[in-house]
Amino acid sequence: MHKFDSGVIIQEYVNIKDYSTLKIGGQFRYFTIINFIKDLNSLYAIAQSELKYKNIPIFILGGGSNIVFSDGVLNILALKIEIKGFDIINENDDCIDIKIGGGENWDEIVQKTIDMNLSGFESLSAIPGTVGAGPVQNIGAYGAEVKDTILEVEVFDIEKGSISIILNKDCKFGYRDSIFKNEAKGKYIITSVVYRLNKLTSPKVLLGSSSPARPRVRSGGDEGKRGARPSQEVLSASLPQFKNFSPALSYPGVLKYFEENNIKNPTLKEIRTAIINIRKEKLPNPNEIPNVGSFFKNPIILKESFSAISRTYGGMPYFDAGKDKTTRQDMVKIPAGWLIENAGLKGKSFGNISVYDKNALILINNGNATVDDVMVAKNKIIKTIEEKFGITLEQEPETL
Ligand code: EPU
Repeated sequence: MHKFDSGVIIQEYVNIKDYSTLKIGGQFRYFTIINFIKDLNSLYAIAQSELKYKNIPIFILGGGSNIVFSDGVLNILALKIEIKGFDIINENDDCIDIKIGGGENWDEIVQKTIDMNLSGFESLSAIPGTVGAGPVQNIGAYGAEVKDTILEVEVFDIEKGSISIILNKDCKFGYRDSIFKNEAKGKYIITSVVYRLNKLTSPKVLLGSSSPARPRVRSGGDEGKRGARPSQEVLSASLPQFKNFSPALSYPGVLKYFEENNIKNPTLKEIRTAIINIRKEKLPNPNEIPNVGSFFKNPIILKESFSAISRTYGGMPYFDAGKDKTTRQDMVKIPAGWLIENAGLKGKSFGNISVYDKNALILINNGNATVDDVMVAKNKIIKTIEEKFGITLEQEPETL
């Protein structure tokens, strides 16, 4: 451990397992906690002057909930971002702009904004990780994506050693994607994010009918049947003068929950509770069962190819995914969980890694798994799905 005059402490050989929700990984050669932007400035100066740290790649650690780490010693300087902050920077009758520190816990922020009766984050309840990790993979759930609430992202530019602002449009957000995963990978440290949230004009969020893309299904499929036709009873509750409604209110599983619980006009708190309960059923708590959420992205394929495959495999659910940016052909998103389950892999174990028995999209560590075990399981699953459906799955979490 080395403590610098500036207060920055660099630790050595730190166990990765303590920072990974999958509980896999060797050691970080160097590790430091960043509490303030001034710590980044100090670290930049250290990296310029101290030979030992000069050419060591920097890695930014959020909650460790969407990354698969390697075993052995990783010759990197891991930065655990703990920059806090929650500052209202603009406000009018309809909305409010809030700058939130990259090191804040995402779900605590969701809870806080809901307590303030602000709409925007409720569909993204109970996602593990930090605020700063959100824009990297454009976290999404139940019809919502964090990109729809982001105005700009404040970053520390690692090469320049200074702060820059990246506007939403320059983040190139896509499905679980952004510049931070691509051309800007390793270039920036996200220090804070500015969001625009809606003030609710009424304590109730009313169910809206003009909604984002609704899931559909050809035939069968538990989510899909409801996705095709949300019940009239639910939709009749929509009142056009309320423009603030949650994307989650167009999501079949969430509508089903409200129907079953006889909730007609859910409040933000009720939407949050619904999502927390739905997630509990499908997503294992990483504190009890080590995992990194969805292990595969839901593949986006040509609608034409989907039609051909679904002639053989009836009941395959799909979601409209718009047109391909270059070819302008219609695309659809297929749930990878459905593919894995229908290939007979749900609950199956590959050594120390298993496909979670309540949700085939999740891989869990049965204890003592290595990164090789994860890769063996991943490759076997990809191969099986390719052979059966002709669709190639892609890993969703990052790898280091
Ligand atoms: N399905 C199955 N079998 C399974 C799992 C799912 O048939 O084992 C089917 C369901 O019946 C449903 C469809 O797949 O028809 C979709 O399932 P669900 O609504 O649970 O969502 P998902 O596609 O499995 C995605 C995100 C989740 C997010 C949920 C809810 C990805 C890769 N995953 O999962 O995000 O919480 O939607 O919106 O896009 C994450 O990124 O880590 C994550 C958990």
